[in-house]
Amino acid sequence: MALPRKQLLPVLVLVLASYYYSARDEFRPEMLRGKRVIVTGASKGIGEEVAYHLARMGAHMVLTARSEGTLRKVASRCLELGAASAHSVPGSMEDTAFAENFVDTAARLLGGLDMLILNHIMAMSLELFGADVLGMRRALEVNFLSYVVLSVAAQPLLRPSNGSVVVVSSLAGKVPTPLLAPYAASKFALDGFFSSIRLENQMTGVNVSITLCILGLIDTDTAMEAVAGIMSAEAAPKQECALEIIKAGALRREEMFYGRPGWVQLLLLNPGRRVLELFSLQRYNLDNLPRPEARP
Ligand SMILES: NC(=O)c1ccc[n+]([C@@H]2O[C@H](COP(=O)([O-])OP(=O)(O)OC[C@H]3O[C@@H](n4cnc5c(N)ncnc54)[C@H](OP(=O)(O)O)[C@@H]3O)[C@@H](O)[C@H]2O)c1
Ligand SMILES: *[C@@H]1O[C@H](CO)[C@@H](O)[C@H](O)[C@H]1NC(C)=O
Ligand SMILES: *[C@@H]1O[C@H](CO)[C@@H](O)[C@H](O)[C@H]1NC(C)=O
Repeated sequence: MALPRKQLLPVLVLVLASYYYSARDEFRPEMLRGKRVIVTGASKGIGEEVAYHLARMGAHMVLTARSEGTLRKVASRCLELGAASAHSVPGSMEDTAFAENFVDTAARLLGGLDMLILNHIMAMSLELFGADVLGMRRALEVNFLSYVVLSVAAQPLLRPSNGSVVVVSSLAGKVPTPLLAPYAASKFALDGFFSSIRLENQMTGVNVSITLCILGLIDTDTAMEAVAGIMSAEAAPKQECALEIIKAGALRREEMFYGRPGWVQLLLLNPGRRVLELFSLQRYNLDNLPRPEARP
């Protein structure tokens, strides 16, 4: 089948223009001053570093993870570093009711919401996939479904503030990865869901940005212990990683890559997917759509 040339040119110009313009605007830490931010998985690793950067930038924040004591320590360190406010709300994202109530609790503490940073994952070890269907279900519930629940609960807060959802994913959510099948499945699911919702937002004029963060190996304790002796790769520093996540969210980027080697970013651009996405958008007629169900 011949390509419809009439459409190809404007589409390519659009794609190039969007990369060109998205590279223009610059990050300033003041962008986060006074902003109301939720960080999940904030008790350690990348989430903890995200919290410290936000604190130095003067944001209001609500942090969550399961470990109550550690989380409280991270929150008080945030206050020392200059956070406008810092609360910790402990709980497990295995519990859907907690995930839903958590957003309401956080919004009450913050008086609204500007940015939702979804970062937690269930601890995982590198192993061949045998028959652990239960483990797969847990991975999907904690690493994927709770992200959906949290973002749904946050919609009524993010729409009035022109807010942002920042989803922390992985190269394993873009590239098939042995020894991590449940993790990879949950991270691919994030791309499928949040990238589709981003298109729906564009089609319906909802101004809530969605940023998907694709990370390579990062030097958190959890990751270093998991790969030790099994996989060799250069790990990038978690502090810089955390800053890049915040930058991408504040600049309302669609995707970012952080990791080593840096040129992986070029291979992830995947222009074929971009062009197909733009083509597919022209095929829909929204007039005959049923209205989405509102949350009770
Ligand atoms: N490190 C890497 O190499 C790497 C590479 C690619 C992508 N990433 C992504 O980066 C993000 C952070 O990774 P990380 O290395 O910083 O992980 P981490 O150090 O293990 O931190 C995970 C966080 O999630 C929380 N958590 C775990 N289970 C939870 C549950 N059931 N409910 C609620 N919170 C839970 C943990 O706190 P509690 O245990 O206190 O609950 C902790 O705060 C993840 O999305 C990961 O996929 C990391
Ligand atoms: C959201 O964006 C619209 C359009 O740019 C603007 O008119 C409105 O003031 C913004 N609202 C907030 C709370 O920033
Ligand atoms: C969306 O919100 C951002 C942040 O408030 C604002 O800069 C932008 O102009 C808004 N875009 C539209 C199309 O309303």
